[in-house]
Amino acid sequence: MLIKTLGNGFNHPVASEITDRAHYEGRRDILKLMATGAAGGVMASWASRQALAQSPGLVQRPGKLAALSAKPSTVAGATTMEKPTAYKDASTYNNFYEFGTDKADPAANAHTLKTSPWTVEIEGLVKKPGKLGLEELLKLSAMEERLYRLRCVEGWSMVIPWVGYSLADLIRHVEPLGNAKYVEFVTLADPKTMPFVGSRVLDWPYVEALRLDEALHPLTLLAFGMYGEVLPNQSGAPVRLVVPWKYGFKSGKSIVKIRFTDKQPATAWNKAAANEYGFYSNVNPNVDHPRWSQASERRIGEDGLFAKKRKTLMFNGYEAQVGQLYAGMDLKKLF
Ligand code: MTE
Repeated sequence: MLIKTLGNGFNHPVASEITDRAHYEGRRDILKLMATGAAGGVMASWASRQALAQSPGLVQRPGKLAALSAKPSTVAGATTMEKPTAYKDASTYNNFYEFGTDKADPAANAHTLKTSPWTVEIEGLVKKPGKLGLEELLKLSAMEERLYRLRCVEGWSMVIPWVGYSLADLIRHVEPLGNAKYVEFVTLADPKTMPFVGSRVLDWPYVEALRLDEALHPLTLLAFGMYGEVLPNQSGAPVRLVVPWKYGFKSGKSIVKIRFTDKQPATAWNKAAANEYGFYSNVNPNVDHPRWSQASERRIGEDGLFAKKRKTLMFNGYEAQVGQLYAGMDLKKLF
C-alpha cells in the first residue's frame, strides 16, 4: 500500500490505492464515523482506515466491473482533498440523453450499450488518421487516477475518481497538422441500442469540441474508468472525456470519433440553444444561464435539498491551472 505525500503536507491516500468501489463506500462510512467522533484514534494511518473499511458491518459490494488499476496522477490540480461522491450516486444520477432525459434513465437503460468491440476513428488534420481499437487506446499511455470535481450546467456537482490519461498523450500520438485548431468529439448514436437516439431533443450524434490548446491541457482527461473499475455504461463506457473546468456537457460520453479541424465545430447543445450554451462553457459563477443563476451548486449526496448551496468557483476551482488559456478573452461574450 502506497501512501503518497503531497506537497501540501497531507498524507492523502490516492483513490487508486483503494482499487474497488467497496473501499470507496467503506471510506464514506469512515467519514461518517469521523463526523460523529466514533472513528477517533484509528485514523492514524491509512492502513488502519483500510482495515476499518474491510470490517464487517460496513458496505461491502463485490465489484461487478473489471478493475482498472492506475497510478496516482502527478498533474497539477488533478487531485482535490474533497470527499469522493458515493459510487451509487455517481452511477445512478446521470445525463446521457441517448438513454432518456431523466437522471435515472441512463442507469436503467444503458445495459443495452455494446462496448466491445469498440474503435475510435481519428480523422481530419492529423498526420496519422485511422482507427484505434480500445485495447490500443488503453495501452497508449499509463493509466492515472484523478479526483475531479464535475459541475453540471444544471447546478449540481460531484467529485469522482476517474481513471484514464491526458488526452494530450493521444493527440501527440496522432500528430496534428499545423493548421489544426479544434478537436471535435463525436459520440455513438446507435438507435438499436440507444432508445432516445432519434428523439427530437438533440441533433444526433451528440458532438462536443474543444480548442486544440484546451484539448492539449494536461487536465483534459480521456477516461476509461472510475472508482478503480472500468466505466459503467451509463457513465460513458468504454471511453469518454472529462474536462473538469467546463460544464459537464462538454465531457462527451462513449466517443467513437475524434476529428481535428481548422474551424470551430458545431456542438450538440449549442445547436439546440445557442443563447444558453456557448462553445466554451467554462464554469463561471459570474455568467448566469439565461434561465437560472450559475453562482452556486448542490453537491450530490451531500447537500440536501434544503441545505444552503455551495458557491461555484471560477473555472470550477481550476483557475490556477487553466485561467491562462483565456487571457484577454471577454468570457461574458464567449461564454
Ligand atoms: N455525452 C453524451 N454522449 N450524451 C449526453 O447526453 N450529457 C452530458 C455529458 N456527456 C451527455 C454526454 C452532460 S449534460 C453531463 S452533466 C455529463 O455528461 C454527465 O456525466 P456524468 O455521468 O459524469 O455525471
